[in-house]
Amino acid sequence: EKDGYDWFMRKEIFEQPRAVADALLGRHTASGQLQLDEVRLSDQELRDIDKIIIVGCGTAAYAALVAKYAIEHWCRIPCEVELSHEFRYRDPILTRNTLVVAMSQSGETADTLMALRHARTQGSKVLAICNTNGSTIPRESDAVIYTHAGPEIGVASTKGFLTQLVACYLLGLYLAQVRGTKFGDEITSVVHEIAAMPAHLERVLAGADDIYALARDFVDARTVLFLGRHAGYPVALEGALKLKELAYLHAEGFAAGELKHGPIALIEEGLPVFCVVPPRGRDQLHDKMVSAIQEIRARGAHTIVLAEEDDDEVAPYADRLIRLPKVPTLLQPVVATVPLQLFACELATLLGHDVDQPRNLAKSVTVE
Ligand code: M6R
Repeated sequence: EKDGYDWFMRKEIFEQPRAVADALLGRHTASGQLQLDEVRLSDQELRDIDKIIIVGCGTAAYAALVAKYAIEHWCRIPCEVELSHEFRYRDPILTRNTLVVAMSQSGETADTLMALRHARTQGSKVLAICNTNGSTIPRESDAVIYTHAGPEIGVASTKGFLTQLVACYLLGLYLAQVRGTKFGDEITSVVHEIAAMPAHLERVLAGADDIYALARDFVDARTVLFLGRHAGYPVALEGALKLKELAYLHAEGFAAGELKHGPIALIEEGLPVFCVVPPRGRDQLHDKMVSAIQEIRARGAHTIVLAEEDDDEVAPYADRLIRLPKVPTLLQPVVATVPLQLFACELATLLGHDVDQPRNLAKSVTVE
């Protein structure tokens, strides 16, 4: 039941520290060595993989985008992301050394099922990342990594998404371990960062009231934009999808670098724009994002900035600032998505919508 929450979705948002911990449980040794026995592909088969294609729909496809960034960086294997329903109709290049990853919380999404069937007819191996034990997609796959989020009842995916991210990180690190593209201590340090996520998530959730206040302030918004870069780009897409499906609001997510190629024309006085700022690091990602925020603010946008807690460089350009725990860039989606989930859940509640059963939507889409 809902344990005192008004919606299953809100309950599931608050379950995320536990869900993320469960997704990691038993999958690494104390020293950070990964143990993914359920990936029933031999080390040789894993070494032979020369391309990965991740298929999924909606939120699952956004988790796949984060996975692409992580897997290519850690494993140096070319990795594509494809919407399941586009996949087989474009005659994709598949060989026995292609690994197709079928990403699905429910394990019953027809588009993704058809994509995996197509991949198998071409001789490719299919690995499912799935939350539902014994569902069709894992049953038809060569191997499965279960996400262990527990049942997700709200139509909008929340803990399903965060645990998909964890499963992707584990897959990427496992491939890096088997293929030797990362040293043991590098893998260990990322595993320890993932293990710290539940505590980080507790802190993000402790700030829920500030996000609810934000939702009250923007209850009359007609359009909301979301900007991100790198692993923050899928977060922007996910933030926008949540608002569309729950608040029935026009929302769009963009890669911040794309702004000047068109979308900046949309910016007008008072437009709320969520900006996911990458952690400060050796690359220029952070500074480029800060300049994008300056640009849109100069044009009157109301900037709602999600940034590392001690990021003083961006603070002057934030009309509202949401502080995120300090985590590595590739892991930031885990903490950055949660305020956007809370915002959409609260805004939809204020608008009087049924958050758990949004109009026109089904929890699993079992028709193509
Ligand atoms: O069960 P699946 O992960 O295959 O579902 C895929 C999408 O239908 C799903 O993520 C959908 O976009 C959600 N309603 C998003 O909140």
